[in-house]
Amino acid sequence: MKTLREQLAMFNIADFNRQLTIPTTRYQGSKAKLMPWLWSHLQELSFDSALDAFGGTGVVGYWLKSQGKKVTYNDVLRFNYQIGMAIIENQRETLTDEDVRDILSPASGMKYQSFIADNFANIYYTDEENQWLDCVAQNINRLPSAYKQALAYYALIQACLVKRPFNLFHRRNLYIRTAEVARSFGNKTTWDRPFEQHFLSFVAEVNQLVFDNGEENRALHLDILNVPSGHDLVYFDPPYTTAAGASVDYLDFYHFLEGLVGYDQWPRMVDWHSAHRRLIRRDNLWTDKAKLRSNFRQLFDIHRHSLVAVSYRSDGMPAIGEIETDLKMFKRKVQSHYLSSYQYALSKQRTQEVLVIGE
Ligand SMILES: C[S@@+](CC[C@H](N)C(=O)[O-])C[C@H]1O[C@@H](n2cnc3c(N)ncnc32)[C@H](O)[C@@H]1O
Repeated sequence: MKTLREQLAMFNIADFNRQLTIPTTRYQGSKAKLMPWLWSHLQELSFDSALDAFGGTGVVGYWLKSQGKKVTYNDVLRFNYQIGMAIIENQRETLTDEDVRDILSPASGMKYQSFIADNFANIYYTDEENQWLDCVAQNINRLPSAYKQALAYYALIQACLVKRPFNLFHRRNLYIRTAEVARSFGNKTTWDRPFEQHFLSFVAEVNQLVFDNGEENRALHLDILNVPSGHDLVYFDPPYTTAAGASVDYLDFYHFLEGLVGYDQWPRMVDWHSAHRRLIRRDNLWTDKAKLRSNFRQLFDIHRHSLVAVSYRSDGMPAIGEIETDLKMFKRKVQSHYLSSYQYALSKQRTQEVLVIGE
């Protein structure tokens, strides 16, 4: 069996990297490293428009945009939607030096709120960093267009992620950064580099991701079951649930970013009983193991007239065989492609990435 490196080598990763500069930060379930493999299968299908239905980092939608497709990006979380707005829907706006100056310096005469400094002390960032975040989040809200705001949020989100151990907000663990102990993981230099430096480098990154592919691309932030049908291809990359029923709750992992992009509403969204100030939990069918199979079936039904591609893992719930069976209710031809030896960022377990295609 070929290793992941050997398999990816077949898809000319150098070309891929030249065409698509992807964020270096980790996001649970990101398909960034797998995109050449996914594309090797998707490109066999005939389609002009595509829905990236669980868009996350936007890497799949962005890749499809770069292939000249008309792309609709969707993710239920608003911070991800900002990424979709910045690099998929936005075709030409970038952040100028003047915009960046306005974001980074306190505006004269403006009275700033201190929600993060007041409520997140010793949880994720230092006091000084919290004050910086308060100021920048409020300045981003004052930018003159939704696309400029989205670009600035992109840079802020990436900066927040790289400064977090594990790139997550699931625990109150600033001490991991600050304790003087030997560590076998993470990068203290990156965590301690000032926010402003990270922000500026991500502004440069996102500015050069902006391009016009000549299509009217859209970003949405809807629950998946409310996303309209009518796309030639629909790509589903839902949260993964293990066979034992453990699932990834994206709102729990990334709640701080969701609060940050809704700064004015944040106080009303916080679960004040939680030590790490997560957001009040919302119902999500994708963390309810009793509903998973019927969720898939419902999606296949809604998008029955589209080509369907599903990313999942070989050891998940529902099983790949069940996904195939349900997709066959709506599709003439169903085929699964396996990529072996893909090791997930936080897991020791080896598992296979699978792409199920229904035509
Ligand atoms: C596996 S990740 C997608 C990763 C993405 N393909 C990438 O490469 O970055 C699943 C995504 O589904 C989103 N999500 C979870 N529940 C959702 C729902 N009910 N409707 C829409 N999106 C949802 C999460 O916010 C998360 O970003």
